[in-house]
Amino acid sequence: MPRITVIGSLKGGSGKSTLTFNLGVWLTLSGIKVQLIDADPQATLIDVTELRRQEGITPFLTIDDRAALITAHTTAAAETLIDIGTADMDAVRLALTICDRIVIPVPPSQADIWSTQRFMQLIAAINRDRPLDIIGFINRGDTHLGVTETKETAAALISLPRLKFIKPRLSQRTIFRRSFSEGLAVFELEPHGKAAQEFHSLVAVLFADLLN
Ligand SMILES: Nc1ncnc2c1ncn2[C@@H]1O[C@H](COP(=O)(O)OP(=O)(O)OP(=O)(O)O)[C@@H](O)[C@H]1O
Ligand SMILES: [Mg+2]
Repeated sequence: MPRITVIGSLKGGSGKSTLTFNLGVWLTLSGIKVQLIDADPQATLIDVTELRRQEGITPFLTIDDRAALITAHTTAAAETLIDIGTADMDAVRLALTICDRIVIPVPPSQADIWSTQRFMQLIAAINRDRPLDIIGFINRGDTHLGVTETKETAAALISLPRLKFIKPRLSQRTIFRRSFSEGLAVFELEPHGKAAQEFHSLVAVLFADLLN
């Protein structure tokens, strides 16, 4: 069954575009037919993909703009990933209407917990009776285990009724910024690095059905 996943949050800088890009590269390299939609007027995904193409890094990715939200369910892609941004709330609402699941990257802070609660309310208001998979994980977590904010954020996410909290987290690591600025996924720049390890643990849960 084709699957449409929104990578979303209401908070700027939570890591939506970085995650969407890395997932897009990973799915493509895994031989899975993927459609990537950039529904954010900032067009970060479009820019990083253009850079990748200019640098001659294969596989090239193709990014559709928000117009593709209307036809997403009819594409031949097995996996569709949608990067959203709050500068276009109509696109956010449309993406939440057509998707099968939502993946929310949550940086460890009180503001991000509140923002996630608000986002859950918006999702519930849009999808009144439709059962949706809503998955939350910690992004930009502190690399020192046991830091209070990260623990508190995990506890807060676990307690959110409709959210499925998944354990694999991505830590705050400069390689996410560095690789992105070169048009590369983290696991392309440092295949054996810690960020790559964390990323693979995350995809093993997010795309468990593809790996079995
Ligand atoms: N795990 C991480 N470790 C370190 N830096 C990260 C991580 N994830 C994202 N970043 C950095 O945080 C910044 C914001 O990330 P990104 O642009 O992916 O967020 P976003 O949610 O798409 O933001 P926006 O709401 O502006 O679209 C970028 O500089 C990115 O490199
Ligand atoms: Mg973004």
